[in-house]
Amino acid sequence: MTQALSITNLVKRFGGLTATDDLSFAIEDGESVGLIGPNGAGKTTVFSQIMGEHRQTSGNIHLYGEEISSLTTAARIRRGVSRTYQVPRPFSEMSVAENIRVGLMPDNIWRMIVEGPNTERELELALSVGFAESDLQRTPAELSMGDLRKLEMARTMATGPKVMLLDEVFAGLTVGEIAQIGDLIQQMRGDGMTFLIVSHDLKALEPLVDRAIAINYGAMIAEGTFTEVIDNEAVRASYLGGVA
Ligand SMILES: Nc1ncnc2c1ncn2[C@@H]1O[C@H](COP(=O)(O)OP(=O)(O)OP(=O)(O)O)[C@@H](O)[C@H]1O
Ligand SMILES: [Mg+2]
Repeated sequence: MTQALSITNLVKRFGGLTATDDLSFAIEDGESVGLIGPNGAGKTTVFSQIMGEHRQTSGNIHLYGEEISSLTTAARIRRGVSRTYQVPRPFSEMSVAENIRVGLMPDNIWRMIVEGPNTERELELALSVGFAESDLQRTPAELSMGDLRKLEMARTMATGPKVMLLDEVFAGLTVGEIAQIGDLIQQMRGDGMTFLIVSHDLKALEPLVDRAIAINYGAMIAEGTFTEVIDNEAVRASYLGGVA
């Protein structure tokens, strides 16, 4: 099997706080892994280091065997990793279609200049996450939390990733929307996408992952099948005594 993503002895300090504490794990190509832990455990900080939004204090990050830690975020996206944000971050002045277009741009910038936007692909992405064609011209201010999460997914998919990092994609969604996003993830798994998924909604997460990793105070406390991890005593204790 090919290793898609690996982090090795990753450490991130914010002043005196250790947000990532000597964390190591690897994900095989095509695998889907859940990353869980209580509020403040350091899940999002792992994502921001993988994407280069925060530089790690020490340690390494490899994407398909290449050390990516010194690359810019855009260069990492070009190599096939992208993320969604826990707090949706659309461009508020742009429509749904234009927001998706931004995700499509890095790989297609020259084609875009020559041919104009790939509106067909924008529509395809919008429909695949559950938007209707009539939603394309709406602005983020008009969207529900569910719609904003769908837009996060579409923008992330638009970059053409091989590895997707999903941060709380189910938070604030209706049961129907959770099922819709879940189906989409399952479909992409079937197509060979690699996932690292953070979710407090463990019920929604369970069917979507091959295994799970639990962290607390930035350090790994359990790794194994989903059931093994959520039944782990240290994991249970960490959720009960959560830091938030
Ligand atoms: N930019 C920052 N500057 C200082 N401290 C930060 C910064 N980002 C995160 N932290 C701290 O790092 C720790 C880990 O935060 P992080 O957001 O990664 O946790 P999380 O597991 O994603 O939590 P949640 O489940 O609430 O989203 C927390 O103590 C947080 O306050
Ligand atoms: Mg977080």
